[in-house]
Amino acid sequence: MVQFTKRSEVKIMEMGVPNHVAIIMDGNGRWAKKRGLPRTLGHREGAASLRKVITHAAKMGIKYLTVYAFSTENWKRSQDEVSALMFLFKTYIKNEEKNIMKNNIRFMVSGRKDNVSPALIKAIENLEEKSKNNTGLTFNIAFNYGGRAEIVDAVNKIIESGVESIDEESFSKYLYNDLPDPELLIRTSGELRISNFLLWQIAYSEIYITDTLWPDFDEAELEKAIENFNKRDRRFGGVK
Ligand code: FPP
Repeated sequence: MVQFTKRSEVKIMEMGVPNHVAIIMDGNGRWAKKRGLPRTLGHREGAASLRKVITHAAKMGIKYLTVYAFSTENWKRSQDEVSALMFLFKTYIKNEEKNIMKNNIRFMVSGRKDNVSPALIKAIENLEEKSKNNTGLTFNIAFNYGGRAEIVDAVNKIIESGVESIDEESFSKYLYNDLPDPELLIRTSGELRISNFLLWQIAYSEIYITDTLWPDFDEAELEKAIENFNKRDRRFGGVK
């Protein structure tokens, strides 16, 4: 029987994809405000967008996806919003486990554990352990994460280890998760800043900023970002 491949699938197969894509998922609050809804509903919609993006990233052959879900600075938000984000993450892990295992996705979290509830830490560690031998997309959630905190934590680990000298490659091994650097950093909602995300790892990442608010970001938006990335002239400080 002849199998016809959908036009959209042919497009994906022809598209070169970056190995590691990192995303600052911004604009949930504004998405909700525009609709007269509470901010927490914006985060809930944001979680739905994330589900679509992970599945599509895996389908496109992206090997690593890191998303910024909660920063070390986000504790400054109202108690209600912080609790809602913690609850959302716990529910997300529970609901996504099936999808993650079915799609051969390896799940991991980058960030500090302090202030995070023992129940949430347990849920994170269980899914990290369960999915650790999966060989498809590595899905890394930056949670209670700060780029400066990550560098300071790495320096402390180095001091504790007693090693006497370090170079750029060996330094990377002390970061939360030793993943390759992202080639592409996407930020939604039009803000032009890095917000303490992956400060070490994005030294040579290409940056793509879209005005689209995170809950409106979908498969087509991801493809648009990657098409844009494919037109970039990457020189890494050299000359072509
Ligand atoms: C930034 O938008 C978004 C966050 C701080 C949270 C991101 C969370 C999700 C996308 C939901 C999925 C979460 C988990 C834990 C899997 P903002 O609230 O700063 O938006 P604003 O700038 O419009 O106010």
